[in-house]
This record gives sequence, structure tokens and C-alpha cells, in this order.
Amino acid sequence: PLVTTAELISDAQRAGRAVGAFNVITLEHAEAIAAGAEEAGAPAILQISENAVKFHGGSLAPIAAAAAAVARVSSAQLSLHLDHVVSEDLLRAAHPEGFSSVMFDASKLTYGDNVKATAAAVRWGHERGIYVEAELGKVGGKEGEKPLDAHAPGVRTDPAEAAAYVAETGVDALAVAVGSSHAMTERTATLDHDLIGRLRDAVPVPLVLHGSSGVPDTEIAAAVASGMRKINVGTALNTAFTGAVREWLTANPAAVDPRKYTAPGRDAMAGTVSRFLRVLGS
Ligand code: G3H
Ligand code: ZN
Repeated sequence: PLVTTAELISDAQRAGRAVGAFNVITLEHAEAIAAGAEEAGAPAILQISENAVKFHGGSLAPIAAAAAAVARVSSAQLSLHLDHVVSEDLLRAAHPEGFSSVMFDASKLTYGDNVKATAAAVRWGHERGIYVEAELGKVGGKEGEKPLDAHAPGVRTDPAEAAAYVAETGVDALAVAVGSSHAMTERTATLDHDLIGRLRDAVPVPLVLHGSSGVPDTEIAAAVASGMRKINVGTALNTAFTGAVREWLTANPAAVDPRKYTAPGRDAMAGTVSRFLRVLGS
């Protein structure tokens, strides 16, 4: 069924585990996330990023409706989240499409401007019952960043600043920069576990780890034990999908039916989702 992100995260908080949040680019991603969650017997968050919306020609409605429909027919608890929203127009489009949460990303702005823009996004969201996540610090490797910066550790989140930021903006969850980086295709990131513990003690809201594809299982498990409550995974699904499709097409060079090669790609993503979910203690 389609549930809310707020209930999934508060359930995880009570149980001392984390919710896996996986990026949806195509219908097959949503189907794979549902299948992986069903297999693991765990809930999951289907997240659609602003970049994915751009890929779909700037239209949020079709992919959002598809993901929501996949959630409704699944036996797993699934919620719909709009991820890395920079555009105010897209933020305002979230509500009618059935999103129960958004991540408003003002992390490129100065501290003062980030607070102002995020506080306004939170006011907008809370008037509509939408759970709002925001980022303080910089998790590097986002699309559009210079390739050279791609795997830079970024600027770490400061606990005192994080406490002030949460108080000033009223956000429901905080994405923090603790050593992970977006778009890594190998799992070689090392997290600052001491910093995660200090952030958990300093801020009253759940912490979110972005760029988790590049973080080894042991590091993710330790981060969850230290208080990370939402684990965002995108690239690992695409690595699995593309690897399986490439392998299938290489073995079957004359094939033309997309169902034939998309199916192994979707299965590979489902396997990746269930493996991540098992690490989160769900
Ligand atoms: O918000 C999405 C995540 O941070 C995904 O990052 O593609 O590096 O796993 P990733
Ligand atoms: Zn992210």
C-alpha cells in the first residue's frame, strides 16, 4: 500500500533501524523497489528526483502516478518522496501528485539564504501535511557538478550549526554530509561515525544519509546504529540495471524486444534493493 514517509520514519525511529529510500527513474525502477521490499519484508521509500523529472521532459505527473500506482498494488509499505528539489515550481507541484514528503535542496546557497528558502518550503509543506527534509553541509557528486568534484567528500555538517538550522527552519529530517558522496559506482566511502553520533545528539530530528551507493554495508550498518534513519540509494540500482542489460544484450545481439532485456535489469535492481534493506535492520 501507499503510506506516508512520516510514518515509515517514525516506525524506524522507534525500532532503531532505518528506511531505505530508492531513486525511481523509470516504471521498472518502481516495480523493482516494490519487489525488493516485498522480498525483504521491509518498507521502502520511492523517491523521484528533480533530475528524473527533467529526464521525463519536466513533467512530474506521469512518473509520479506510475510510482504511486505501483505502491498501491504492492504488499509492501511504500511511500512517495520528491527528492533534491531546487525549483520552487516543482515543490508546489508535489502536493497534487500524492507525495507525502519532499527533500528541499538549498545546500548550494549560503547558510543564511539556505535557512530562508528552507523555512519557506517547510511552511508551505506543513500547511499541506507534507514532511520536509533539507540538507546542511554539502554531499558532493550531484548531477551538474564538475566531474573533478564528483567524489570529493564535500563540506561536513557542523553539529552546532545543524542544531541552529533545524530550530530556524523547522525541518522534519536533516540530510547531513558525513563522508558519503553521490554517484559512486564503487563502495569505497568511509563515514565519520564520531560526527554522526554528535549530529544525532545535537539535532532533534532524524538524520538522512545521501549517496549511500558508495558506502559499504558495514559502514551503513554502523551509521544506522549511530542514528541514521533514512538511507538514500540511487546509483547502485542503475549499476545493477545497466550491468544486467549489457550482459543480456551482449549474449543476445539480435534481440529487439525491450521486455527481454529490461526484465533482467529490473530483477537485478530488485536484488540490490532487498540486499540494502536487509542491512538496514528492517
Ligand atoms: O538522493 C539520492 C541519493 O542521495 C542517491 O545517491 O546515487 O549516490 O546512491 P547515490
Ligand atoms: Zn541525494
